[in-house]
Amino acid sequence: MKKLFVKTYGCQMNVYDSARMADLLAPLGYAPADRPDEADMVILNTCHIREKAAEKVYSELGKLKRLKEERREQGRPMLIAVAGCVAQAEGKEIVARQPAVDLVVGPQSYHRLPEMVARVTRASGHVLETDFPAEDKFDSLPQDLSVSGPAAFLTVQEGCDKFCAFCVVPYTRGPEYSRPVAQIESDARRLVEKGVREITLLGQNVNAYRGAGPDGETWSLAQLIRKLAETDGLERIRYTTSHPRDMSDDLILAHAEIEKLMPYLHLPVQSGSDRVLAAMNRRHRAEDYLRLVERVRKARPDLALSSDFIVGFPGETDRDFEDTLSLVREVNYAQAFSFKYSPRPGTPAAAMKQLPDEVKSARLQILQALLSDQQDAFNRACENRIVPVLFEKPGKKPGQAVGRSPWLQPVHVDGAASFIGEIRDVRIAGVLPNSLRGKMIEKAQVH
Ligand code: SAH
Ligand code: SF4
Ligand code: F3S
Repeated sequence: MKKLFVKTYGCQMNVYDSARMADLLAPLGYAPADRPDEADMVILNTCHIREKAAEKVYSELGKLKRLKEERREQGRPMLIAVAGCVAQAEGKEIVARQPAVDLVVGPQSYHRLPEMVARVTRASGHVLETDFPAEDKFDSLPQDLSVSGPAAFLTVQEGCDKFCAFCVVPYTRGPEYSRPVAQIESDARRLVEKGVREITLLGQNVNAYRGAGPDGETWSLAQLIRKLAETDGLERIRYTTSHPRDMSDDLILAHAEIEKLMPYLHLPVQSGSDRVLAAMNRRHRAEDYLRLVERVRKARPDLALSSDFIVGFPGETDRDFEDTLSLVREVNYAQAFSFKYSPRPGTPAAAMKQLPDEVKSARLQILQALLSDQQDAFNRACENRIVPVLFEKPGKKPGQAVGRSPWLQPVHVDGAASFIGEIRDVRIAGVLPNSLRGKMIEKAQVH
């Protein structure tokens, strides 16, 4: 038996891909390892979104090279593979900078891993595959998906045609591709048979989903969600990440009508300034976003909103940044991610005049303080309420279990270990910075 260690960086799509790579290599005899030093093969599934994320890969590869040498001395060879978005963007540079790398495989080519592994083990040298499109990959991935717990990711759409001026995704993931409805349905059914109760539909631009329907028509994300909601045993559906431009009326209506669709929406706005939004090529104004938020909230009043923000985009003035803060105040987010703009090779914004790092840091700090206050307020408002929790895994303390509320907050509950895999009502008894503490409620209290 050989062992495989996969280290994942970046977004949920990479988490999904890492699991698929492990599924692909299982028939070759690779079982999961907990640590790199016990692995016969290590895959770094990388992210290219910001400079820091990409640079981490090279320092990690330095460590792996030493590990590989130690193992070689002990007569136990080790393969090193780089997958994901850095592999796609910098494939040749990776092998040049770190010759210990045996395999480089892009996000749309990893279905070829088994054959690539056979090739490197037969002959020495490197193997590099970074082809598009995604279609061939999904057709050749194993149908049997491994699961880890009752909440699973399921990729339904990949790639992006939006070309925001700051972003590498259209280059690393390639053009938009939507999987056929029937393929997704059968994956969902298999997941549910294995105990999955919640599925998060993934796509770089998931609400741009336009997949081949079983009736020969092109289906929207809303149609797909409606269909999946009919799956017995599937209790919760989520989707991420959405672009404001693709938030169609039928998807908004789905939030009002489909009970299994959770009241949570990650809808990145990036900036609250129309000038900056235009320079970013986001193709919507702050006002469009605010009206959209109003409409989804009308459809689903308890909807929690989340977003991504970039501060310090080239040309962003204090005034522009103020506009971002006022948009945040107006929306009132339950949760959000914010980043300093990081110039990425090959993207239009990298060639624009850059702001000093101090300006970016100062703005990021102000924005994060505001977002964190909003998150606190959102969490505090849950105190003493009874919320349904899907228990996902054991907590840190014996007997404890951790699950998620409908609004994606982690909830820790003592004495709940036997409910893992189930949805139970919980009373929220305390609020911690990034999670909630809940108490199981006695049956009598419910009535
Ligand atoms: N498809 C998603 C985003 C994927 S990238 C969308 O359209 O919203 C996730 C987040 O990373 C983005 O929303 C953006 O906020 C951030 N990001 C992307 N490129 C960046 C860059 N060059 N510098 C800093 N943050 C960036
Ligand atoms: Fe990147 Fe924009 Fe596409 Fe999102 S919509 S993946 S930010 S190019
Ligand atoms: Fe990173 Fe690629 Fe995801 S760049 S955020 S791993 S799509």
